Amino acid sequence: ARRVTVPDIRGRKGGEPIVMLTCYDAPSATIMDPHCDILLVGDSLGMAVHGMTSTVGVTLDMMILHGQAVMRGAKRAMVVIDMPFGSYEAGFETAYANAARVLKETGAQAVKVESGPTAPATIDYLVKRGVPVMGHVGLLPQSINIDGTFKAKGKDEAEYARILQSAHDTANAGAFCVVIEGVAERLAREITEAIDKPTIGIGASAACDGQVLVSSDMLGMFDWTPKFVRRYAGLRQEIDNAVATYAEDVRSRRFPAEVETYFSKKPVA
Ligand code: KIV
Ligand code: NA
Repeated sequence: ARRVTVPDIRGRKGGEPIVMLTCYDAPSATIMDPHCDILLVGDSLGMAVHGMTSTVGVTLDMMILHGQAVMRGAKRAMVVIDMPFGSYEAGFETAYANAARVLKETGAQAVKVESGPTAPATIDYLVKRGVPVMGHVGLLPQSINIDGTFKAKGKDEAEYARILQSAHDTANAGAFCVVIEGVAERLAREITEAIDKPTIGIGASAACDGQVLVSSDMLGMFDWTPKFVRRYAGLRQEIDNAVATYAEDVRSRRFPAEVETYFSKKPVA
């Protein structure tokens, strides 16, 4: 089957829900690809893979390296790559140069940017020059050093109105779809009804046109998961059991056994 395109996703507004997951490596991409419309190489990889405490330290080179790995495993799903903190906010030219590097060096189809106040102008600049952009409104993890903590957004009326406006501006600037993160159902619904581009929610209710989760969260790689995550597996426990048993087998000389051993065909002198 051919790869999912930007017009395919745009055409899903109000239709069958869009399935997106984050993906950071090639083997995971081969597993997720048949099931997902979009694989997002999220800058959440800073935390999910590299043990950072926020996404602020993630570099463009890290995003490109993981993007290349995911592209080697994904045959059908659209691959979207997050522009990391510091790679698109300083000016149109650097944003374009960095986005072009991402598309050229990975072969992915689109980038995603967090829609702070300056983002819509940047999105317009990029889209007019051939870079498809996914927007991202609501909780913006790259603003952690302004916000102090990761918590749901749009709780007071001023912030609610700001997020709604930013969703409008992001869609009007030419973003082909918009991630909504960490807002109450009422705001996610209002945005989804107001803009003509598909919305993809994370912690943003069933009112969106699609859903995304951080794959390591839904696979149970961490001890703790937030309220909006549903755990579909317990990989942390699985891996812990496997490693504990392996360690026990090595220490007790139960591993390797004869079937796991190469024997020389030459007679021993
Ligand atoms: O980096 C990421 O995983 C994301 C999703 C939460 C949308 O941006
Ligand atoms: Na992100």
